[in-house]
Amino acid sequence: MKLLVTGGAGFIGSAFIRLSLAADPSLQIVNLDKLTYAGNLANLAEVVADARHRFVKGDICDAALVDSLLGEEGPDAIVHFAAESHVDRSILSASPAFETNLRGTFTLLEAARAHRIGRFVHVSTDEVYGSLEAPLEADENFPLNPSSPYSSTKAGSDLLARSYFLTHKLPVLITRASNNYGPYQFPEKLIPLMISNALEDLPLPVYGDGQQVRDWLYVDDHCRGIRAVLDRGRDGEIYNIGGNCSLPNLAVVRQILAATGKPESLIRYVADRPGHDRRYALSSAKLKRETGWAPRQDFAAGLAATVAWYRANHDWVAAVKSGEYRTYYERNYGGRATVAK
Ligand code: NAD
Ligand code: DAU
Repeated sequence: MKLLVTGGAGFIGSAFIRLSLAADPSLQIVNLDKLTYAGNLANLAEVVADARHRFVKGDICDAALVDSLLGEEGPDAIVHFAAESHVDRSILSASPAFETNLRGTFTLLEAARAHRIGRFVHVSTDEVYGSLEAPLEADENFPLNPSSPYSSTKAGSDLLARSYFLTHKLPVLITRASNNYGPYQFPEKLIPLMISNALEDLPLPVYGDGQQVRDWLYVDDHCRGIRAVLDRGRDGEIYNIGGNCSLPNLAVVRQILAATGKPESLIRYVADRPGHDRRYALSSAKLKRETGWAPRQDFAAGLAATVAWYRANHDWVAAVKSGEYRTYYERNYGGRATVAK
């Protein structure tokens, strides 16, 4: 089997490539990635010498490139990870999310249709369901109610992808996962940001009261869920992939402080994210029922492994926290008021 993976130099795409190549000796992967600030060839160091992996630097919005790549490589399936994935960046400037998440997905769908690709897995997010009051859990029929520019572009791309199944019979499958964590995650997201700041004795910026709830999913469990959908999912269907591990942000931050041996005095309560979703909660019963998939990683052990990885990979962290990251950090956190608690 040959896969075209988009966004395979990012956090989840690179984990998917590492795991998939290790699990299937006959698999070939073509990896199309623009190498934005979040794309990093160092994430692919384990597979760089593997002849079954071909890296192509390019933009999924480039219709001519996508068309020629599909013609040249003839992949059996596309697994589409590439996205502008960070909510705070989409609040500061929505244009990159609009371009990649909507136009880029449209460009891939058009090319997949023209080349009669056998399977198109569109990787999406639980954020499309918006904030849910407890004890509600979203199943795949739950209404879409996105709050941020990021999640609204993901919801739009989900609808577009589904329309290519309904209208053109392109075999599209959509996955919607909860918050991922694990090695190689860019330190703009909650867990790697808090770990790397704690390890450097820097303040940990908690938005609002820190009682927002997220469902944490270890990245390898997410990748196994995507594999299950690719191999055994039904065309045209949507599959939620949740970690079954709902925690308030403050509890996660406190566990990180305990795991890094740092004091609670590092916590800074700062002005909340505009439009901040209070609670996500997901039912993955459909994926379990149809494929037997279930998350395996316990959160305490997964967090300990993640902290150990960030401790051991100081050079990776230092490289990604230099340059553009500093500008972003200043824009997002520099003028943010500290809030008394
Ligand atoms: P990431 O930001 O770590 O990586 C995104 C990758 O896409 C990068 O390698 C980047 O260079 C590439 N990319 C961006 N724009 C591109 C373009 N125009 N053309 C080609 N490549 C481009 O993201 P991630 O956290 O690995 O997320 C991957 C996917 O999973 C996204 O679609 C995201 O919406 C979804 N998702 C993420 C999470 C999470 O918790 N991180 C949870 C659920 C779903
Ligand atoms: O739910 C899946 C989504 O999870 C994915 O679709 C997104 O790509 C991914 O970025 C993530 O979105 P979130 O907005 O939930 O993740 P983030 O890590 O940015 O924030 C998690 C929670 O932590 C959220 O309630 C905001 C809060 N937070 C985040 C940061 C970066 C803070 O309190 N302080 C921070 O500095």
